[in-house]
Amino acid sequence: MRSVRSIKVLENIPVLVRCALNVPVQGGEVAGSFRLRRALPTIEYLRKHHARVVLIGHIGNKGTETLEPVFRAMKEFIPELRFCPVTTGPKARDAVRQLPPGGVLMLENLRRDKGERENRRDFAAALADLADIYVEDSFDVCHRPHASVVGVPEFLPSYAGFLVEEEVRELSKALKPGKPSLAIIGGAKFGTKEPVLKKLLALYERVFVGGALANDFMQASGRPIGKSLVSGADKTELKTLMGNRKLLLPVDYVVARAGTTVASGRVVEIQDVDPIESILDNGPKTIALIAAHAEKAKTILWNGPLGNYENGFVQGTEAIAHVIASSKARSIVGGGDTVAAIEKLGISDQFSFISTGGGAMLDFLAKGTLPGLDALR
Ligand code: 3PG
Repeated sequence: MRSVRSIKVLENIPVLVRCALNVPVQGGEVAGSFRLRRALPTIEYLRKHHARVVLIGHIGNKGTETLEPVFRAMKEFIPELRFCPVTTGPKARDAVRQLPPGGVLMLENLRRDKGERENRRDFAAALADLADIYVEDSFDVCHRPHASVVGVPEFLPSYAGFLVEEEVRELSKALKPGKPSLAIIGGAKFGTKEPVLKKLLALYERVFVGGALANDFMQASGRPIGKSLVSGADKTELKTLMGNRKLLLPVDYVVARAGTTVASGRVVEIQDVDPIESILDNGPKTIALIAAHAEKAKTILWNGPLGNYENGFVQGTEAIAHVIASSKARSIVGGGDTVAAIEKLGISDQFSFISTGGGAMLDFLAKGTLPGLDALR
């Protein structure tokens, strides 16, 4: 990949920067600016060299969301930032034309146009039409073969931004862990995590599987899981993975009556889940088990919450965040809820590297590359 640093002429040149603008928004305001802060070094570099900086990014999945709250949050860091309520066409071209050297403009949510997700060539061409150079700095979306990720580089000279370079460098190190090594994978959706689990079981000495992901394993081994969330994964595949002695699973849970709206439950051993209950977090014995391995580890990799974090079952996830923060291991972490937990606890500086990627981090670890990175080569 060619680095943004290798661009020879930037003075007055319009540069399209694909940024990680997909941040949590609550009540119309940005609730976590981690990704925005990580976008700043590339933007600042381009401004310092008097480029005209055009930020493009997506937010949400519906195709109706607006980047306006993200614009307001980003303006705190870049007071001169401008916003254009469309993404392509004459109005967007005009807004770019009016940018002074060193100016920064944010265009509206790319996913408002179906062409983005469908990687339509005409949409990629319309985006490319806005600038002379493309910089990929949205590592979080490099696993998606979308127009702004893999389409635009077909039209413009393309470079990697500082964040993408750092992600690739740090996550490549995670593929060569110092021994003893511990990987912790939580969250849900076995299907999307199966490739990375296999890879980590080959590379790491211990791989703990928590969160809803563990429910699939428990169900396959005939243990009670009540009404807990499962992804319907293939039982034979799960049993094969369970035969691997590196795999660690929860030894206790926090459970509550299915459908409860209160974020509290009771701690039970894994065989004691009632048919009307759901597993909503990992329990204290499980945390102690992870802590025992973390204490000895030289490398710890973590992605995904241990409990139903979004609905308030945060204890297991926060306890693990503290365990890793206080370990002497080199720690590499990522994933939306994982990063949110760390930010909320104010312990970000106690981790060696925090990835801005969720699915992208896992895919990179599984495959060693991503479509958005290949597009730059
Ligand atoms: C993320 O948050 O993981 C990326 O921005 C990709 O978003 P998506 O999962 O909606 O494609």
